[in-house]
Amino acid sequence: MENQGHLINLGAHIEANLSGNPRPPQAMTPTTKMDVLVIGSGAAGLRLALELADHCRVAVLAKGPITEGSSLYAQGGISAVLDPDDSIESHVQDTLDAGAGLCHADAVRFTVERGPDAVRWLIDHGVPFTREADLNGGHFHLTREGGHSHRRVIHAADATGAAVETSLVGCARAHPNITLYERHIAIDLITTAKLGLTGANRCVGAYVLDREQGNVEVLSARFVVLATGGASKVYLYTSNPDTASGDGIAMAWRAGCRIANMEFNQFHPTCLYHPHAKSFLITEAVRGEGGLLKLRDGERFMHKFDPRAELAPRDIVARAIDHEMKRLGAECVYLDISHKPAAFIKEHFPTVYARCLEFGYDMTTQPIPVVPAAHYTCGGVMTDLRGHTDIPGLYAIGETAHTGLHGANRMASNSLLECLVFAQSAGQDIIAKLTEVAAPPALPAWDESRVTDSDEEVVVSHNWDELRRFMWDYVGIVRSNKRLERALRRVHLLQHEIHEYYSNFRVTNDLIELRNLVQVAELIIRSAQLRKESRGLHFTLDYPECSSSEAPQDSILIPNQPEPSRSSAWAGNQ
Ligand code: FAD
Ligand code: SIN
Repeated sequence: MENQGHLINLGAHIEANLSGNPRPPQAMTPTTKMDVLVIGSGAAGLRLALELADHCRVAVLAKGPITEGSSLYAQGGISAVLDPDDSIESHVQDTLDAGAGLCHADAVRFTVERGPDAVRWLIDHGVPFTREADLNGGHFHLTREGGHSHRRVIHAADATGAAVETSLVGCARAHPNITLYERHIAIDLITTAKLGLTGANRCVGAYVLDREQGNVEVLSARFVVLATGGASKVYLYTSNPDTASGDGIAMAWRAGCRIANMEFNQFHPTCLYHPHAKSFLITEAVRGEGGLLKLRDGERFMHKFDPRAELAPRDIVARAIDHEMKRLGAECVYLDISHKPAAFIKEHFPTVYARCLEFGYDMTTQPIPVVPAAHYTCGGVMTDLRGHTDIPGLYAIGETAHTGLHGANRMASNSLLECLVFAQSAGQDIIAKLTEVAAPPALPAWDESRVTDSDEEVVVSHNWDELRRFMWDYVGIVRSNKRLERALRRVHLLQHEIHEYYSNFRVTNDLIELRNLVQVAELIIRSAQLRKESRGLHFTLDYPECSSSEAPQDSILIPNQPEPSRSSAWAGNQ
């Protein structure tokens, strides 16, 4: 479902301008057979497809336009050790510090060590990162963000994601082994266990709604990869595009995968505060380049919360802003970089500058009003370093996965890095197994014989709004036992209603997303209830301290069993 006027439609703009579109969007046959099905066309999905494409046939699904997803809107950049004065050890340590004791050390080292090569691959594939030459010198310009003790964020001005996504889509479109399916939304995964087949369980495909035609098709594949992005749309205010409804996490859960650390929802401290701006992100690089947070009267406050002030990790900055807003009854705080030369601001932040100007704020001369908004899902489908989930044949990469890299708080610009590193790693794993895994058996068609068209779409839109509002109010930046209990009660009511609706009516994009969002909301609340402490992004009034445990644990949710036999899910949506 679309947020009202959420973000500039960068996707449509870029689609229109993509140079050379050699192949029209593909239509599926009732059962389409592929070697690998990649669900998601963001940085993670496309990078994986390009790793695989010389070895096998790959289908990539996008539920909207091919470029639409969080990757497209990434501003700040990609962190990697590229400066001779920086070091792998320093990047590892900064990531561990931000993660507040919950990072998996092996995942952190694995990612950071592969960072420089991941960035070089992008440069070789045409991503136009900003060079010092554009500004003053010859090397790539590295910016700074919260938690990083060095300048190590490579970027394309303040529109890094658009540069990366455009380049990846261009390469994918040009490859004969990659088929891109736009406006195709995966509904559920197909596993041999759910089909009732004997032998070891395995993921063998997915049911997919073609949003244009309105019919559900079967996509059969030897390997399936979830690259569906995060779930921040579960909150009323979010920096994320409409795609971020946690579909991959919900599908994996229903298929029987463990999900970890869903309580760690990252709120970006600085989104533009304006009734029509819909949480447009003001990149952390603005603070990295000297931007200061101020109250309405011009007073700075961040030094009262952390010695790193504006460059503290974003959980600390977001909580400080929330605290000041509540203390003063203020609607926002202000981000001020107007002390820097106007030319510097326009050169480094052309997108942010232009967007703010549209809303009447000239950041070269005045502070910008900002508020926090939901930004990133640190938890997700549990994987190892190769992207394996609990189900053979099913991988998860990118924001939908929980690899252990981010712990209790993701450090800025480590997400795109994770997408690239784990996409390559999963791709290599799949390539090594291509000859071992046989084609799936014939898969049953989706059965709609017992459903009709909905007579009351308002149920979907109402539940959508209600869910996102109480998640914001009760499961937001500051939580408590009571708030979580209230939220869980409401989630259960909505689940009941949505399940009934799903059972009786034909699936639509909005219904599929709502069903997933309410599932993800439950996982977030249950994970938050498990954590009897405040740590990283999870802060609760009932346990305001971080536990002193030497070995803090992840919050791991295990599906009791595959969902109460929606036998019907495999024989239609009954
Ligand atoms: P996405 O890019 O979100 O792509 C998800 C894909 O999955 C889309 O193609 C979508 O259509 C598809 N999809 C989802 N569900 C389904 C379904 N059911 N069926 C079919 N397709 C489906 N991180 C950084 O490291 N640096 C930054 O500077 C940075 N800036 C950011 C700025 C903004 C405004 C935002 C929102 C995020 C930012 N992040 C940044 C975070 C980062 O962009 C994301 O974590 C990352 O891009 C996620 O990539 P992804 O490939 O996992 O998912
Ligand atoms: C930003 O540019 O502030 C976003 C960076 C990130 O989310 O990693």
